[in-house]
Amino acid sequence: MKHLQLKTKEFVQKATNEERIVACKKFKWIGYTHAKKILNIMDDFLTYPKSHRMPNLLLVGDSNNGKTAILSKFNQLHLAYIDEDTSRLINPVLMIQAPPEPDEKRFYNAILEKLFAPYRTSEKIESRYIRVKNLLIDLKTKVLIIDEIHHVLAGSPMRQRTFLNVIKHLSNDLQIPLICAGTNLAFNAIQSDQQLANRFEPRVLPRWNNDLELKRLLLSFEKLLPLKEESNLIDNNLVTKILALSDGLIGEIAKILELSSIMAIQLGIEKINKSLIDQIDYTPPQNRKRRFIA
Ligand SMILES: Nc1ncnc2c1ncn2[C@@H]1O[C@H](COP(=O)(O)OP(=O)(O)O)[C@@H](O)[C@H]1O
Ligand SMILES: [Mg+2]
Repeated sequence: MKHLQLKTKEFVQKATNEERIVACKKFKWIGYTHAKKILNIMDDFLTYPKSHRMPNLLLVGDSNNGKTAILSKFNQLHLAYIDEDTSRLINPVLMIQAPPEPDEKRFYNAILEKLFAPYRTSEKIESRYIRVKNLLIDLKTKVLIIDEIHHVLAGSPMRQRTFLNVIKHLSNDLQIPLICAGTNLAFNAIQSDQQLANRFEPRVLPRWNNDLELKRLLLSFEKLLPLKEESNLIDNNLVTKILALSDGLIGEIAKILELSSIMAIQLGIEKINKSLIDQIDYTPPQNRKRRFIA
């Protein structure tokens, strides 16, 4: 089983089929080149000296193409801890999800909830904001991550403007870098504001193409999938097939590989091949709407 990573190999040797099927469903982090580059930028943010002009990052990409996975990885690498000298809780990275609609109160609530800081529904926006600010100072938070930022940048131009101002205010006032992630909608909204456009460095997570990077990704997946035989996922026929089905989205690639490996275990084939992929119960993203309408 030379095709497997050592840990996976050891697992495959002793695990039952059921255990291997569960393992197929587990998220497996792969540090592909783009993701690593973005993580490096984020790491630099942690030590950036305070100034009135902090750098901010806008991670832009289609849905299901790995934005949240990168943010979560960064968050995991910098979890909260207790400072031994002061016995105080330090939380270097705080990650929240923007509320589903542009509502300033709910936006601050998302932060307060994450910090287990209770709030009263009657509490005024200003008071919530001040508490958010003080909590972040208290916890020595160095980076604030806001995922799904497009939610709050949607809506009428007036609401959009309000939220662009909230973000500007946060960035100026807290003097910590903001890392936001969202779809193209967020990118366009931020570009519409000159000041924010200057402050937010956009980083695009492109869809996957048939190139060396994709082959590297598939090779990494192969090392982690608990199958006894080598599939040789980097074979051109397989690459083309997986790419076409997935529409270039890493989330779809992961799903296709998950379903195929499960089937490979169930059928005793122990490797992924083209005909197996044809048999999985999977609807490509391009066909989903169509199937729903039909
Ligand atoms: N670095 C990665 N390594 C392995 N799988 C990944 C990685 N990034 C994303 N995925 C797969 O893609 C799916 C969607 O990723 P996600 O980060 O939620 O996308 P987005 O936030 O852009 O919508 C994940 O559930 C996972 O299966
Ligand atoms: Mg996401």
